[in-house]
Amino acid sequence: MSTGTWVLFDLDGTLTQSEEGIWNCARYALGKMGYAEPDAATLRKFIGPPLVWSFQELIGMSEEQAIRAQGIYRERYNTLGLLENRVYPGIRYALRCLKKAGMHLGVVTGKPENATRRILEHFGLIGFFEQIVCATDNKADKEQMIRKALPEGVTDAWMVGDRKYDMEGGRQAGIHTLGVTYGYGSEEELTESGAEKLARSPREIAEVLCPGTEGVSGAFLSMEGLDGSGKGTQLERLQDTLERYGYELVMTREPGGTPISEKIRGILLDRENVGMTDETEVLLYAAARAQLVREVIRPAVRDGKVVLCDRFVDSSAAYQGGGRQLGIERIMEINRPAVDGTMPDLTVYLDIDHRKSLERRMAVSEPDRMEMEADSFHARVEEGYHKLIAMDPGRFAVVNAEGDRDGIAAEIAEKVLARLRMLEMED
Ligand code: TYD
Repeated sequence: MSTGTWVLFDLDGTLTQSEEGIWNCARYALGKMGYAEPDAATLRKFIGPPLVWSFQELIGMSEEQAIRAQGIYRERYNTLGLLENRVYPGIRYALRCLKKAGMHLGVVTGKPENATRRILEHFGLIGFFEQIVCATDNKADKEQMIRKALPEGVTDAWMVGDRKYDMEGGRQAGIHTLGVTYGYGSEEELTESGAEKLARSPREIAEVLCPGTEGVSGAFLSMEGLDGSGKGTQLERLQDTLERYGYELVMTREPGGTPISEKIRGILLDRENVGMTDETEVLLYAAARAQLVREVIRPAVRDGKVVLCDRFVDSSAAYQGGGRQLGIERIMEINRPAVDGTMPDLTVYLDIDHRKSLERRMAVSEPDRMEMEADSFHARVEEGYHKLIAMDPGRFAVVNAEGDRDGIAAEIAEKVLARLRMLEMED
């Protein structure tokens, strides 16, 4: 383990927003012990201090009762509460920047070790940390824990946290302190307890601790499938998952996603435009795409965001190349200047038989111009997608879209998270 700059993070309220789980479990324990439901202000105070202290001081229990309450709390917490949790948006970005700047990262938390590791593992954060120090035997003396976390000889270190316990512990241990105001402590609490610097967002942690360091880039994801493959539902589900994991998401769609591209979308999907030639159609899709790539996708990825795009150039290849029989290679060629090398890091393909997708479509809404195409058209679109996947299997995550929604969502989440983690580790 190395000297150099060390940055130690508190967990609840600093890396993750854990109130949902904490509150559900506190309510559960109090209910089981026959106490009335506490008000919101009291529940809020449960975040940060050791549980036994909270049950004694906030609820008025004896020490013995408080230890019992803690046991009941943990019963629910270890199975359910633990993962009723969200990584603050921008934390992953900040951790990546600090790592890139050569800093060593650690976690110092009043939570038990087992829960801490499970949370960090679940959210794919554990790989960022070289040191994890947790409370033992209900004792959470931050100063002691901070001293334990730092290898001998370290002279430059920061404690980053959202409560006075973090700031006081850091000062007592003789290291720098950075208070985060987006967590559970107020700005006054942090300054009064000795915070040397403040960060108002996770991104600001990196700006304060390694100013001037070049940022890290994000990722570009797309989702494809036949009309009726359930793409809309699955995009929403994936958005929710990625946000829980602390990715800063930019959702967009094709054709569309910018004011100019949305106007082009209007022309493309207008049922009155039956006279549109195939070539016009291809060029309009490509024009909408050229604008989206430059105005939205590239700037967001450069800024560390994750772009999730509803359809991209594969749709042109499958619908115009396959469906309209213009040829996949030819469509890719026409799109070359529009895409200009910006291809998705991963494309989720919702695999469904075209007859099945037609049934689903008919059940829900009036078809638009593209959807009114004959069955053979959609058969060729499906075949087009399969050709694209065969041409570049590494870029696609193919998911069977004929099963139940939850199962499909889980499979997509697993594949997308794995790819994003791989990209993060490349820094
Ligand atoms: P979609 O986003 O699935 O429409 P909706 O939001 O109405 O469900 O896509 C609109 C249609 O455009 C769809 O039928 C596929 C077609 N399309 C192409 O033919 N080529 C393309 O390049 C793109 C992006 C879409």
